[in-house]
Amino acid sequence: MLSWDEAASTTGIEGRAHPEPMLEPDGAVASLLEGGSAALPADADRHAGAIGIENLQMGASRVQVDDKQIINCKADLNQLVPFKYKWAWEKYLHGCANHWMPQEINMSADISMWKDPAGLTDDERTIIKRSLGFFASADSLVANNLVLAVYQHITNPECRQYLLRQAFEEAVHTHAYQYCVESLGLDEAEVFNMYREIPTVHDKAAWALPYTQSLVDPDFQTGTPEDDQRLLRDLIAFYVVFEGIFFYVGFVQLLSFGRRNKMMGTSEQIQYIMRDESMHMNFGIDVINQIKIENPHVWTTDFRREAHKMITEATELEIRYAHDTMPRGVLGLNANMFNEYLKFIANRRCSQIGLSELYPGASNPFPWMSEMMDLKKEKNFFETRVIEYQTGGSLSWD
Ligand SMILES: [Fe+2]
Ligand SMILES: [Fe+2]
Repeated sequence: MLSWDEAASTTGIEGRAHPEPMLEPDGAVASLLEGGSAALPADADRHAGAIGIENLQMGASRVQVDDKQIINCKADLNQLVPFKYKWAWEKYLHGCANHWMPQEINMSADISMWKDPAGLTDDERTIIKRSLGFFASADSLVANNLVLAVYQHITNPECRQYLLRQAFEEAVHTHAYQYCVESLGLDEAEVFNMYREIPTVHDKAAWALPYTQSLVDPDFQTGTPEDDQRLLRDLIAFYVVFEGIFFYVGFVQLLSFGRRNKMMGTSEQIQYIMRDESMHMNFGIDVINQIKIENPHVWTTDFRREAHKMITEATELEIRYAHDTMPRGVLGLNANMFNEYLKFIANRRCSQIGLSELYPGASNPFPWMSEMMDLKKEKNFFETRVIEYQTGGSLSWD
């Protein structure tokens, strides 16, 4: 089974650079059309690659695997097969096999603990609320980035299939946070406005948003090295930084409750979310590396320096978030442990996309996190229940 931080990344990346486009050498999208470019919606013919809504041409040649490219592809995007990027299809299948819904998790013990004045300390309550506040809007930002910015520029149907699965999972995650807020009876407005009211939460969201905004500029299209780098920058911002660094203080904090038999339902929700997020991040890393393979000219010294700068800024923001949410030691954690942890995570992210490590020698103070990532859905880690949970097998109609 594909899983987690390492295994899924960079598996089966295809190495053929610059496959020939299926259409005429001038590459005009119009050549797909019966009526020429005038028949296209205004939005379609500004793209360097196909986008999938071109008019149909009866009897046009069939898509061959070598026609496919991850960006700027001119071949028909509505033909899922033949697969070129098997790693994308496999991640789609695994995402579906790991389907879960927030209401399936029992929150009754959490509700009792939250309502009991002696159930949790003030510092513990702050962490729960801060985490829900950050994640509640963060998953929405990720979903918006996928649907409004990334999807149209990824010109490959098997990758788009995964993007659609990921987009649904982001909706499930936002649902999970809403479900926790509702179950615990928290102030919804306080939680959902936190990214506009608490500086360290705001700063992470505000760091990422310009990368989405850059791609939804109506004049933006990929196709030049500079514009391809703009897409790559957004992919690094969201897959490597947002899902790969900004989520990790919250993950460690919320999972630490579960390790101490506190807020087990909330912790279980986070465990499922972290499994999904790990797959999202690994998919994004595979996409980034595939773009690099097919377009090596975009991975310039200046661009690598810029990517390093993005990861450095993000690491500092996340360290600041850790200190803000934990002014004192709590749950066996303290903020200084996260200085080291986030540098360790940043090094991992750098090496996953082929950058040198930013913080040589940083070590992992939370080795138990990797065990958490090895969750098998058949048996819950916290043993709040034991259930055959994996979907996607064949149904019995007996
Ligand atoms: Fe998510
Ligand atoms: Fe995600």
